[in-house]
Amino acid sequence: MNLDAQHPLASGLTADARLIRAYQGTRPEVTPVWFMRQAGRSLPEYRSLRVGTRMLDACLDPEMASEITLQPVRRHNVDAGILFSDIVIPLKLVGVDVEIVAGMGPVLGKAVRTAKDVAELTALDPAVLDTSLAPIRQAVARTVAELGETPLIGFAGAPFTLAAYLVEGGPSKDHINARTLMHADPDAWAALMAWTAEVTGRFLRAQVLAGASAAQLFDSWAGALSLDDYTRYVAPASAAAIAHVRDLTYTENGVPTDADQTGEETATRRNVPVVHFGVGTGELLKEMHGVGADVVGVDYRVPLDEANRRLGGVVPVQGNIDPALLAAPWPVLEAHVLDVLERGRTAPAHVLNLGHGVPPLTDPNVLTRLVSFVHELGASAPVAS
Ligand code: CP3
Repeated sequence: MNLDAQHPLASGLTADARLIRAYQGTRPEVTPVWFMRQAGRSLPEYRSLRVGTRMLDACLDPEMASEITLQPVRRHNVDAGILFSDIVIPLKLVGVDVEIVAGMGPVLGKAVRTAKDVAELTALDPAVLDTSLAPIRQAVARTVAELGETPLIGFAGAPFTLAAYLVEGGPSKDHINARTLMHADPDAWAALMAWTAEVTGRFLRAQVLAGASAAQLFDSWAGALSLDDYTRYVAPASAAAIAHVRDLTYTENGVPTDADQTGEETATRRNVPVVHFGVGTGELLKEMHGVGADVVGVDYRVPLDEANRRLGGVVPVQGNIDPALLAAPWPVLEAHVLDVLERGRTAPAHVLNLGHGVPPLTDPNVLTRLVSFVHELGASAPVAS
């Protein structure tokens, strides 16, 4: 399906942005940079805005969500905004009893442990999202109107990461109940994953249709899985989630793709770029690309040249600064950034990011300095010694 002509990619507003070009596999002169969890607790302006408002209420207030999304873009001059929201928002909007407990994460009213629990959960109709996602669409529309040529990234949780919260009932270390369920009752597991893919896929698609120029699927906890379990019990659902945005296309520079009067194609049709990221997923990189992603996000455990090798040398990569180094002395961080950039150079294109989210206690000035350092290096980054 073609994006609306007013969409920032279709109108050309964000189509030439560094981030989009890198996601499409061409290397811009300046390496684009943004940070996972760039919006949030590291920013004093976020902390003061959030006083008295619960996390999920903030996500569902279009004005507040938009303002929080814009804060790090203004402050750090990053190459993208990422919508301030949460992976559990579509669960809440479809009727699941879920809250976010500060310092802990998503907590469910009831864990989904048995086939009966799965049947009750999957009886909730994903079609209600058509109307209940309205505040998300409004937040996206407000935000892209302010961002102009800076692309907004929409995101969603991958089915496994969401299922890990649903089955455990909250955060867990090893997601053991979820991993048991996939083997103990493969049919219930498949039903759970198919439903979750539908719910999270609709959330992602709504953000893109409302104006997001790229989409990132977070499978934060997929690193708990063996390659075999990932391939058999998880990858099909991740592919189904990505399929919700895979068909969304636009024509470059707003030129119609229809054959012109001479009968020749006049423009290139492109899809909205999709990034797939997980933590501890070094063994799964190729499969995570294979479910329909254009770009693979790499955490800090595997160096980018090795990640690129595992991906066959043909996939743009995103990452992978170790968040722990944000609190190290600047020369230490600088050397690490140069090393990441140098290794990233082996891939077709590289978007600089962290290997996971910004730690809440990060000094925001370090992030601002890092962005301007990378932008000033431009294409001719010196090779780290
Ligand atoms: O990156 C961004 O700036 C966009 C915002 C964003 C949030 N959550 C806001 C948020 C994104 C992309 C997410 C995704 C998310 N949520 C993931 C996948 C990414 C990842 O980090 O692995 C996961 C696993 C969740 C679930 C979740 N929500 C967790 C683990 C937490 C942290 C709990 C805590 O207090 O430490 C949340 C809450 C949350 N989501 C916060 C923010 C800014 C903190 C809320 C607060 O201010 O108290």
